[in-house]
Amino acid sequence: MTAGGIDKAGMPSHVAIILDGNGRWAERRGLPRAMGHKKGCETLEQIVEDCARIGLDYLTVYGFSTENWKRSKEEVGALMGLFRLYMRKLVKVANENNVRCRMIGERSRFDLDIQEGIEFLEGQTAGNTGMTFVFAVNYGSRDEIVRAVRAYARDIVRGQKGEEDIEALTEDAFAGYLDTAGMPDPDLVIRTSGEFRLSNYLLWQCAYAEYYITPVLWPDFTKDELMKAIESYRSRDRRFGGRNEADDTLKSG
Ligand code: FPP
Repeated sequence: MTAGGIDKAGMPSHVAIILDGNGRWAERRGLPRAMGHKKGCETLEQIVEDCARIGLDYLTVYGFSTENWKRSKEEVGALMGLFRLYMRKLVKVANENNVRCRMIGERSRFDLDIQEGIEFLEGQTAGNTGMTFVFAVNYGSRDEIVRAVRAYARDIVRGQKGEEDIEALTEDAFAGYLDTAGMPDPDLVIRTSGEFRLSNYLLWQCAYAEYYITPVLWPDFTKDELMKAIESYRSRDRRFGGRNEADDTLKSG
């Protein structure tokens, strides 16, 4: 089966991206960092479209972390301005490409108009049936896990669950308390700008993901780079902690 001319065999269903390098891209050109973020938004718009066209089921992108508030007031302000603009553009891009948008992270820290923008984007694209684009904003994996534990504890205290449910809690049931409830785990994590870190991104969900690091800075990331990452993924042998039957055949043969 092909999607957008691409053989779907062995394709990842869910790709997660840590976009990095906007600041360096701008600094290398003698531009303010905000210009790197602006170009980064344009790249993101194109990559959402490319991912939908090649037939991914989920694309999750780390847009703004719980730690990013520590940046200068000026940079945070510029990022929020871009976020406002980008969400409006995304409604159009998503609807043209049958993409459903969903935000994960703790949204109550954003200004009210941004929170409304998030709801508008999710609402306007909720009926789309193609790829789901998940934007992680004010997201931190440790924060997400702590919020999930709090929610579970609240269910126990409020009587929606009994004490016996504490021991009965399974990994799957716990995952239902995370922001990513109902989503499959990422198969492939791509990080741009050559950094080998997960930076508090989807720690629970990426337990068995494959990783691909490229030195390309995010504003320069293209569909060709995306396809290189996917080709690398397709050559991997995913064992999920188990054994590969081919290894056994080799040893016994
Ligand atoms: C990483 O580059 C980029 C970010 C931390 C921000 C990404 C934001 C957008 C694409 C705009 C959308 C805005 C929001 C608020 C979701 P970097 O600045 O860490 O690059 P560097 O490592 O080269 O400094």
